[in-house]
Amino acid sequence: MTSGTTTPAPTPTVDWAAVRADFPFLERRIDGEPLVYLDSAATSQKPRQVIEAMASSAACGYGPINRSAYRLAGEATDRYEGARAAVARFVNAPAAHEMIFTKNATESINVVAGAWGRANLGAGDVVVLTHMEHHANIVPWQMLAADRGIEIRWVPLTDDGQLDLTDLDALLDGAKLFSFTAMSNVLGTLPPVAQLCRAAHDAGALTLVDACQFVPHNATDVQAWDADFVVFSAHKMCGPSGIGLLWGREALLDEMPPFLGGGNMIGNVTLDGFTTAPLPDKFEAGTPPITEAVGLGAAVEFLETIGMDAVRRHEMDLTRYALDTLGQRYGSDLVVHGPSNVEVRGGVLSFAFRDLHPHDVSQVLDERNVCVRAGHHCAKPLMRLLGANATARASFYVYNTTDDVDALAEALDGATDIFGL
Ligand SMILES: Cc1ncc(COP(=O)(O)O)c(C=O)c1O
Repeated sequence: MTSGTTTPAPTPTVDWAAVRADFPFLERRIDGEPLVYLDSAATSQKPRQVIEAMASSAACGYGPINRSAYRLAGEATDRYEGARAAVARFVNAPAAHEMIFTKNATESINVVAGAWGRANLGAGDVVVLTHMEHHANIVPWQMLAADRGIEIRWVPLTDDGQLDLTDLDALLDGAKLFSFTAMSNVLGTLPPVAQLCRAAHDAGALTLVDACQFVPHNATDVQAWDADFVVFSAHKMCGPSGIGLLWGREALLDEMPPFLGGGNMIGNVTLDGFTTAPLPDKFEAGTPPITEAVGLGAAVEFLETIGMDAVRRHEMDLTRYALDTLGQRYGSDLVVHGPSNVEVRGGVLSFAFRDLHPHDVSQVLDERNVCVRAGHHCAKPLMRLLGANATARASFYVYNTTDDVDALAEALDGATDIFGL
């Protein structure tokens, strides 16, 4: 057993048509036809609650954070800190001040590599990664390897795209950090996060969980995981781009040096040096993403209103339907990478279709208004293991329906016609 199941308990029925009605992009027509957006693993669409919260805050509630005594600034600060509290609650973080706003998940990982890593890792120290990581969770460690001579070890994959944990204990032996994804952006695989954190801690290593694909689609509990650092991005969870999250245990964040220096992150500055502000300001140098934080707070409330167990269940249903529909229609002509069991995968389907290049597939689908991603998905080491330069990838979210899956299947027929297959 190498993956984590995240099957939720039964939840009250959600009115998914009403959820769709909250997304203005669904009113858009191209060539008179609606859009079928199947690229939420790259970035999600925004509901009107998020758009309106950001617009109203930018229009009449905008002001600086933390540095002024007047009421407008106070209100802006309250909204900014309210968003922090909301997102901390959303992932069950013990305290809001452990939740750091960054630019995106990539920057969050760079904060850990650049601040914790530089303070704690030297030549020969080991960081363990997996073969299914996004470049965001590879390159910062490779930069540290080049700079500091750390060793990187890799957890391999099974044939069905799960983590092969056979030699995990040996890989973790002597390691300082195990940094791994909670859900693959290519395979959809859901590794068993709590089990991996336990194994890392038993070996004396800390953990960083890249929850970029997990948090938007599943109920998340960083305390139940017993993780040390968790990162994710607002733009994949119905929020805006430009704001990401780093949650870390307070003691670790307190011990770490700051990552960026400048305004807001200082306690005091003299000609001889500086002291750092308490958390979270210590890691939020400069003017932060003020309006984006408001959007993130609204996104959290929007998802909480639906309920994350319901979101997970909806996506399991869509994924099952897609695997069945595409399997019945195209048989071995369409290969979906990753586990076939929806209990251990999320709503991300990377596929090869006949011998068509994924970019051609994506372009033909676009002519039918079906938006799928084609490329290496920032996971080139994994692509090499799959024996592909690229895949086409369809991914689901709260605004997708089985009609969207049918539209994808029918549009693939179009690709068959065009290329005469
Ligand atoms: C698993 C995973 N990690 C990290 C990232 C990086 O996220 P961002 O570009 O928001 O920093 C992504 C983005 O696709 C991802 O899918």
